Amino acid sequence: MCGIVAAAAASNIVPVLIEGLKKLEYRGYDSAGLAVIAGENIRRIRSVGRVAELASAAADVSAVTGIAHTRWATHGVPSERNAHPHVSGSIAVVHNGIIENYAELRAELTAHGYQFTSDTDTESIAHLIAAKLNVDADLLTAVRLACQRLVGAYAIAVIDWRQPGKVVVAREGSPLLLGVAADGNYAASDASALLQVTRDVIYLENGDIAELTPQGVRISLFDGTLVERPIHVSELSPAAIELGAYRHYMQKEIFEQPAALANTLEIVGGGKTIQPGIFGAEAGQLLADVDHILILACGTSSHSGLVARYWLEAIAGVPCTVEVASEYRYRTSVPNPRQLVVAISQSGETADTLAALRHAKALGQDKTLAICNVPESAIVRECALRFITRAGPEIGVASTKAFTTQLAALFLLTLVMAKLRQRLSGEQESAFIEQLRHLPVAVNKILELELAIEIWAKRFASKQHALFLGRGRHYPIAMEGALKLKEISYIHAEAYPAGELKHGPLALVDRDMPVISVAPNDALLDKLKSNLEVVQARGGELYVFADADSEIPESTGVHILRLPEHYGALSPILHIVPLQLLSYHVALVKGTDVDKPRNLAKSVTVE
Ligand code: M6R
Repeated sequence: MCGIVAAAAASNIVPVLIEGLKKLEYRGYDSAGLAVIAGENIRRIRSVGRVAELASAAADVSAVTGIAHTRWATHGVPSERNAHPHVSGSIAVVHNGIIENYAELRAELTAHGYQFTSDTDTESIAHLIAAKLNVDADLLTAVRLACQRLVGAYAIAVIDWRQPGKVVVAREGSPLLLGVAADGNYAASDASALLQVTRDVIYLENGDIAELTPQGVRISLFDGTLVERPIHVSELSPAAIELGAYRHYMQKEIFEQPAALANTLEIVGGGKTIQPGIFGAEAGQLLADVDHILILACGTSSHSGLVARYWLEAIAGVPCTVEVASEYRYRTSVPNPRQLVVAISQSGETADTLAALRHAKALGQDKTLAICNVPESAIVRECALRFITRAGPEIGVASTKAFTTQLAALFLLTLVMAKLRQRLSGEQESAFIEQLRHLPVAVNKILELELAIEIWAKRFASKQHALFLGRGRHYPIAMEGALKLKEISYIHAEAYPAGELKHGPLALVDRDMPVISVAPNDALLDKLKSNLEVVQARGGELYVFADADSEIPESTGVHILRLPEHYGALSPILHIVPLQLLSYHVALVKGTDVDKPRNLAKSVTVE
């Protein structure tokens, strides 16, 4: 999604803007631009493509006040004329989000003589602010008046050459934070862009508007009331967002999973039991009364919810439904005040998940839990309970370590619910905790299979389609494997519960359709084997990720890769790792942009 960097400082801020944009590249974008105050003028540079090209084009620019942007196209194709900043009169604006009433604003502003030169919704913000400057010449007031007319989710940053040394920013629905430093003040979509200048950050709330000068920041609400927001010291380490020795962030993040799991599970400590308090001080009381769990999430995060459904129902005996957030938010559902609503999100800013959570709360369901990787995110702030996965920053668009740490968190939730419902003996609890503790070691062993997986990947790279099969709690793992493959290698991949194959998809099976199967040694293995035989009998080529003791023999058309360890209920956390490696290596062979796959964004902050 779009990224914003803005600065008002005492010295040249152009290198800060460029470096900030580079740090936001992971969010996904198709064009970039910046605007600075240059005497009695706005100097604007925009380019389609990478930030590096913008950096070359801006090599001779120097200024103390400016805004910069990476754009992920929503309204209008990726092109220079649609790239931000957009200019109207003396002002320039960058924007992240979507303005829902832009068509109405565009018609109104056109009628007042404003000329539109792009297809974006953002340009109506620029003209609206310019129009408001005719009502009140103060930039802050003009932006405030404009915000009162905007409908949608947005974060904006604005400069006016008539009011040098000042940036005005506003937030409603899209993330934006301020960076406070001795030599100037900054704003950005996330803290990684500002680590180069400061660790002291202020998270803006929805409905906040702030004026930044080199001397300080002043924050108020859209109605003009001044507000104080606390300064946090960002714990993000520069090393955590560096690539280091790895070729891609996705590879780095796959290999970080043992450490990410260990960090996430640190909260359990060295004991043999866990307490509800790991989800927040109120958790014991709030969870005791829960009679159903509703999980809301998108993409990979929804797949972790689907695995958790198997755990929660089988181990804790609590009924569970998992809904894709973009569907739930618009569906007429039957509210249940005793239901625990769990919002799962790596970023904590996914627009659909946030809206679904708000919808659930508006229906009177206020038992809410966030499972999230970003402590200060909107989703965390809006839930009664929280569990912060400690995966560290995930930069690659394809989610990997966020997924496995979400699964660890959801397994802890299962244990807590099982305890509260008297479904877990002390012995079972301590055995599960031991298995959780062993996960980092077990994942490490699976990572050693990389070479063998690389060989498989070479065979896949020429394929157009692939089928992924799984059963039970490994069906969502097949879904996640298919999502990973299509996301970064652009190979069309579908996942099916293996038992469903004969009801339709079997018609697709031939020599050119590789069938990848997750085959753990569990109660469904024999059923799965029969399903696989059906594929083999139709001339299909099978690639099976089995456990060391899954009795599936290698034969013509059946290739087996055996995972060294498996941990019963926790097996999905292990079985996803080879599928992540497979898609990574297929993408490498195909030469796609692994960390920034086409058309995708890391954090989907628009609907
Ligand atoms: O930040 P979130 O977990 O809320 O993001 C949800 C999805 O957009 C995300 O998981 C997406 O599906 C990933 N790119 C998949 O790898």
